[in-house]
Amino acid sequence: PAKPKASLPLAGRHILVTAGPTHEPIDPVRYIANRSSGKQGFAIAGALAMLGGRVTLVSGPVDLITPAGVDRIDIETAREMATAVDNALPADAAVMVAAVADWRTEAAAETKIKKAEDQTAPTLTLTENPDILATLARSDKRPRLLVGFAAETNDVLAHAETKRARKGADWIIANDVSGDVMGGDRNRVHIVTGNGVESWDDQPKDVVAMRIAERIAAALKED
Ligand code: CTP
Ligand code: CA
Repeated sequence: PAKPKASLPLAGRHILVTAGPTHEPIDPVRYIANRSSGKQGFAIAGALAMLGGRVTLVSGPVDLITPAGVDRIDIETAREMATAVDNALPADAAVMVAAVADWRTEAAAETKIKKAEDQTAPTLTLTENPDILATLARSDKRPRLLVGFAAETNDVLAHAETKRARKGADWIIANDVSGDVMGGDRNRVHIVTGNGVESWDDQPKDVVAMRIAERIAAALKED
């Protein structure tokens, strides 16, 4: 028989997860995106729900099935993700796995951009998107435990530690995406906290997810 929900370690907790890429429109038919598949974030949301948590998953455009027991909110742009995150608060913990587009076009064209007769290419003027994690860290609705991810191709640990401090996250989970991690089914992560760094072996993304969920449950048990 299934375990009664109340006895599970995350019973009564609300946890917010962001996942996937964001799409930033250039015109009605084109957008800026990145290679995030959403797999690691969806696996974390599913693992948190399995441990009894109430999970809100704010997801960018991905081709994935919603994990059992997870409330999913679909968005496209970084600004929509920021609004959805704000609307989902309060939460006991937030795990920001999304690969939020750093830039959007200053103004998306309302009609399809056409090729010019003289073959000059259009110039896209970009502007920075809001930093959802950093904003949450500084807000008066900051979850008790705030976890960020960092996808890096070089100097992984140094960049992760800098990010943890700059963004005001409790933990940064760093992964080296110089290989085929993005879109793949395995991940090698480093857990960077105020107590130092713990490096995990390369493992399936759902195993990484359950270990992270268990660690979150343990952290929320303290104090
Ligand atoms: N993040 C966010 N909002 C953004 C950008 C990033 O919430 N606009 C979050 C991500 O979900 C992740 C963490 O911040 O949890 C780190 O994202 P990352 O892209 O590695 O950091 P950046 O500050 O954007 O730095 P970089 O120049 O390395 O991309
Ligand atoms: Ca970024």
